[in-house]
Amino acid sequence: MTADVPSCSFPDGTRVPRLGFGTWHLGEDPSRRASEADAVRLAIELGMTLIDTAEMYGEGGAEEVVGEAIRGQRERVFLVSKFYPHHASRTKLPRACDATRKRLGVDTLDLYLYHWRGNVPLAETVDALEQLVAAGSIARWGVSNFDVDDFAQLQSAGGERVATNQVLYNLARRGIEFDLQPVLAKHRIPVMAYSPVDEGRLLRHAGLVALANRIGIMPAQLALAWLVRRPDVIAIPKAVRAAHVRENREAANVALDAATLAELDRLFPPPKARRALEMI
Ligand SMILES: NC(=O)c1ccc[n+]([C@@H]2O[C@H](COP(=O)([O-])OP(=O)(O)OC[C@H]3O[C@@H](n4cnc5c(N)ncnc54)[C@H](OP(=O)(O)O)[C@@H]3O)[C@@H](O)[C@H]2O)c1
Repeated sequence: MTADVPSCSFPDGTRVPRLGFGTWHLGEDPSRRASEADAVRLAIELGMTLIDTAEMYGEGGAEEVVGEAIRGQRERVFLVSKFYPHHASRTKLPRACDATRKRLGVDTLDLYLYHWRGNVPLAETVDALEQLVAAGSIARWGVSNFDVDDFAQLQSAGGERVATNQVLYNLARRGIEFDLQPVLAKHRIPVMAYSPVDEGRLLRHAGLVALANRIGIMPAQLALAWLVRRPDVIAIPKAVRAAHVRENREAANVALDAATLAELDRLFPPPKARRALEMI
């Protein structure tokens, strides 16, 4: 039997698997919805029970697919969704959250993320999020695509209860290691790494492919194992092909030795200076 997916905790102590499941581009084509829901169910079955979605994905379609997949097993999953910046105000956020919960078919969302920063004052958004927590509509909240300055401003705007920052992070995009990751670590806030295989591009990197071959695993497993070896990183690969879902799950069982990590640092050097946070 395979071991459980290793976990990490949010600042409030809630534990989640470090390997979850992303849903961007799900729910865009009605003819694919059944197979997409199957992929989500397979991920849950295999222990990748943190499901990341957003009102933006398929304009609600991805949330509907997730809602379909989790029917009858809501208690097994940790549900993350995200709201548009233009819904970040005191008046609009409760309505956006209601619509998300309805599409997912749940009373309470486990984690609600500010998808990327917009023009609404941060203090207003924080207040609106805390009101959703008080009302029981969400259990906790976080942000996405917040760079170091944004994060500092969030803290000053009353946002101390932020649970995570979901950012672009993979072998080919290591900028956050220089400054953002240390700041989050100081606050014991895990990083949620999106596009962990760089939307598939990383899997065609000749050096990564050769190294994966040499150690007898698939390139995606090497890329994901590198991320989730850290106790404060949650990776959320998206995969609708069942073979990919299974392959990704096995990454949680791969231990990388020092020589492999050194070779990865040679192929994908860590940052030596600050880089502005990249976004997809
Ligand atoms: N907060 C944000 O702004 C933001 C931005 C981007 C993404 N995200 C979140 O992060 C999730 C993941 O990022 P992503 O979807 O951009 O990219 P990704 O997970 O890095 O890559 C997804 C692509 O890789 C393929 N793939 C996955 N596993 C594979 C494997 N084992 N072998 C070969 N190919 C594999 C998938 O193919 P198949 O689907 O055909 O299996 C898909 O084409 C998103 O779905 C979303 O939930 C958040």
